[in-house]
Amino acid sequence: VHRMSTSPIQIYVWCILLFANVGISASSPLEKDALLDIKIHLEDPQNYLSNWDESHSPCQFHGVTCDEISGEVTGVSLSNASLSGTISPSFSVLHQLHTLDLSANSISGTIPAALTNCTNLQVLNLSMNSLTGQLPDLSSLLKLKVLDLSTNGFSGAFPVWISKLSGLTELGLGENSFDEGGVPESIGLLKNLTWLFLGQCNLRGEIPASVFHLESLGTLDFSRNQMTGVFPKAISNLRNLWKIELYQNNLTGEIPPELAHLTLLSEFDVSHNQLTGVLPKEIASLKKLKIFHIYRNNFYGELPEGLGDWEFLESFSTYENQFSGKFPANLGRFSPLNAIDISENYFTGEFPKFLCQSDKLQFLLALSNNFSGEFPTSYSSCKTLERFRVSQNQFSGSIPHGIWGLPNAVIIDVADNGFIGGISSDIGISATLTQLLLQNNNFSSELPMELGNLSQLKKLVASNNRFSGQVPAQIGNLKQLSYLHLEQNALEGSIPPEIGLCNSLVDLDLAENSLSGKIPDTVGSLLMLDSLNLSHNMISGGIPDALQSLRLSYADFSHNNLSGPIPPQLLMTAGDDAFSENSDLCVTDTSEGWRQSGTSLRPCQWIDNHHSFSRRRLFAVLIMATSLVVLLSGLACLRYENNRLEDFNRKQDTESGDDSDSKWIVESFHVRGVNPSAALPVPMVT
Ligand SMILES: *[C@@H]1O[C@H](CO)[C@@H](O)[C@H](O)[C@H]1NC(C)=O
Ligand SMILES: *[C@@H]1O[C@H](CO)[C@@H](O)[C@H](O)[C@H]1NC(C)=O
Ligand SMILES: *[C@@H]1O[C@H](CO)[C@@H](O)[C@H](O)[C@H]1NC(C)=O
Ligand SMILES: *[C@@H]1O[C@H](CO)[C@@H](O)[C@H](O)[C@H]1NC(C)=O
Ligand SMILES: *[C@@H]1O[C@H](CO)[C@@H](O)[C@H](O)[C@H]1NC(C)=O
Ligand SMILES: *[C@@H]1O[C@H](CO)[C@@H](O)[C@H](O)[C@H]1NC(C)=O
Ligand SMILES: *[C@@H]1O[C@H](CO)[C@@H](O)[C@H](O)[C@H]1NC(C)=O
Ligand SMILES: *[C@@H]1O[C@H](CO)[C@@H](O)[C@H](O)[C@H]1NC(C)=O
Ligand SMILES: *[C@@H]1O[C@H](CO)[C@@H](O)[C@H](O)[C@H]1NC(C)=O
Ligand SMILES: *[C@@H]1O[C@H](CO)[C@@H](O)[C@H](O)[C@H]1NC(C)=O
Repeated sequence: VHRMSTSPIQIYVWCILLFANVGISASSPLEKDALLDIKIHLEDPQNYLSNWDESHSPCQFHGVTCDEISGEVTGVSLSNASLSGTISPSFSVLHQLHTLDLSANSISGTIPAALTNCTNLQVLNLSMNSLTGQLPDLSSLLKLKVLDLSTNGFSGAFPVWISKLSGLTELGLGENSFDEGGVPESIGLLKNLTWLFLGQCNLRGEIPASVFHLESLGTLDFSRNQMTGVFPKAISNLRNLWKIELYQNNLTGEIPPELAHLTLLSEFDVSHNQLTGVLPKEIASLKKLKIFHIYRNNFYGELPEGLGDWEFLESFSTYENQFSGKFPANLGRFSPLNAIDISENYFTGEFPKFLCQSDKLQFLLALSNNFSGEFPTSYSSCKTLERFRVSQNQFSGSIPHGIWGLPNAVIIDVADNGFIGGISSDIGISATLTQLLLQNNNFSSELPMELGNLSQLKKLVASNNRFSGQVPAQIGNLKQLSYLHLEQNALEGSIPPEIGLCNSLVDLDLAENSLSGKIPDTVGSLLMLDSLNLSHNMISGGIPDALQSLRLSYADFSHNNLSGPIPPQLLMTAGDDAFSENSDLCVTDTSEGWRQSGTSLRPCQWIDNHHSFSRRRLFAVLIMATSLVVLLSGLACLRYENNRLEDFNRKQDTESGDDSDSKWIVESFHVRGVNPSAALPVPMVT
């Protein structure tokens, strides 16, 4: 009985089946053939089109949609399906096609002229492919609302016919290689545009004034062209704008106070132009701003204090301008700030405290400014921070402890300030650190052994401070370390043999410390080492033969207390000066070539059995005493002793040379014009 009753659900299912049947029966064989031809033109490594075959209805094909009543194909959407190949002219057979989306594939070739027959198209998205050639005149597609041809390799003239497509709401032609030229004024006929993307397509000239009457515009993107003219005041007519991308152009002039009328503005990027002037304080009322990028311009003056009220700010970049004065104290206090780069300006005074107030800050770059005072303790708990760079300011005081232990830090760069105090043992927590740049400050602690916990560390620069104590043996744990500069400090004790375990080390500079003891043999196992500077210490003993296996471009052992033979290979690369001012180094290679080089270093044979300068003098005194004895002893012995004296004299002439004392005179050193730690900020946004 209940079989007979028809539930609403059953009726619904029947309806669906009915429509599906209608669809299948009504779909024209011509359309199916067209789709199969479209498939033939495409390469489909991921088999996305696997069910496009004779046994399926076109309306079941992946990515194909049909009109429910007529069964005609209305949509082909094959976005991001790893397709390559070309676009078949057979699309012109699909008369009812509303939507064609082949975006984000690797399709090449040109747009077939046949596509101009698809006059029912409302959405045509071919962006992000490798299409080339001139665009066909698509002005017959009068129903188009969305036309996105961006990010391809189209060439030829900028399409002027575009202005006939008056129903367009979204237009993308950016990221193509059109001929250099301007945008036609007639683009202003596209009254319903909400999205206009013309970035990076060789545009020149001014932005047409008509653009500033497109009142529906939400996104305006002319980025990465060479647009000229002053920053358009009329932009403030476009009250629906939420995104302005005008970066990398040649715009001049100032930002007008009227910009503040764009109350929906969320993303604003005018970086990399020739804009100037003072930022109008009115822009503080742009409460929706998330992204504010004005880097690489010529803005000057103080930033409006009111910018601290922005509640949605995520990314703020003003680097390479001439801003000065106090930085808005509240910036970041009420917003989820993630990235800030204010480097290369002239900001003075205290560093702002609240940039990490929302615990979202990952990038804090404030290099090369005039900030002073102590660094705020608030950043101690900024666990999200990855890049912390405040070098080249005038900070003083100690670094708050927690900063050494930021768990996600990749770079800590506090170089070129007046910081005092030391690295705390918290540094062991910063396990992700790759660069620790502390040079040219007044740090005076010992180097904590926890430095050995930084297994990712590639660069440690602590030169020109007053670090004391020993180089921690744990340094040997640093397998990634390639650059270790500890010169110009007050380090003492001996170089730990563990340093030989740092097998990525390329540049090692320990000069101008008070290191003593011997050079460990293990230095010879640093096979990547290219530059070694141990000069101006109190290192004694010999230079290990093991160092011969290194292929050094630079070495400096001068001003130490080293003795014994210099490995010949090392002498060849480093030169005499690299060994000057030591107690008793000598040269074993006495070949003719070496002699002619005019070296001032002492040959070794002379002192083969006499290891020190004082013993040599003692030996000379003994010789003189012996001579006296010889003179005083009778003629009987004269002949034998004469021979001996002759022997000695000859030896001295040939082996010591004629300037046997000048070798101990210091000469000028090799000076390397290298400054490898140029600390430029990384542009955050492109
Ligand atoms: C394409 O798809 C992949 C994964 O299927 C996704 O990660 C990527 O963001 C998509 N790209 C676009 C442009 O939609
Ligand atoms: C076109 O397709 C791309 C990739 O799928 C997408 O990101 C873009 O938003 C589409 N264009 C328009 C105007 O919808
Ligand atoms: C457009 O369609 C017409 C008639 O269907 C046909 O004659 C013409 O060749 C087509 N145009 C192109 C460019 O394919
Ligand atoms: C522009 O949009 C309005 C409102 O949506 C619509 O009435 C009008 O027909 C559109 N203009 C064109 C040329 O499509
Ligand atoms: C834009 O500026 C760049 C760099 O300053 C310059 O090379 C280029 O010639 C300028 N272009 C125009 C059209 O003024
Ligand atoms: C910033 O510091 C530099 C270097 O110390 C100094 O020459 C300059 O006068 C300072 N500028 C300002 C605006 O304080
Ligand atoms: C470092 O400290 C010393 C003594 O405290 C001081 O004389 C010197 O000026 C300081 N150097 C720097 C760069 O701050
Ligand atoms: C540092 O490494 C040592 C072992 O070398 C370990 O005992 C210590 O817990 C580590 N410290 C931190 C803070 O990770
Ligand atoms: C130099 O080294 C020798 C041992 O080779 C040692 O006796 C002497 O004290 C050292 N001199 C200095 C100034 O360290
Ligand atoms: C080694 O360091 C000293 C002192 O810092 C410096 O004068 C010298 O130029 C450096 N030598 C080389 C080869 O770089």
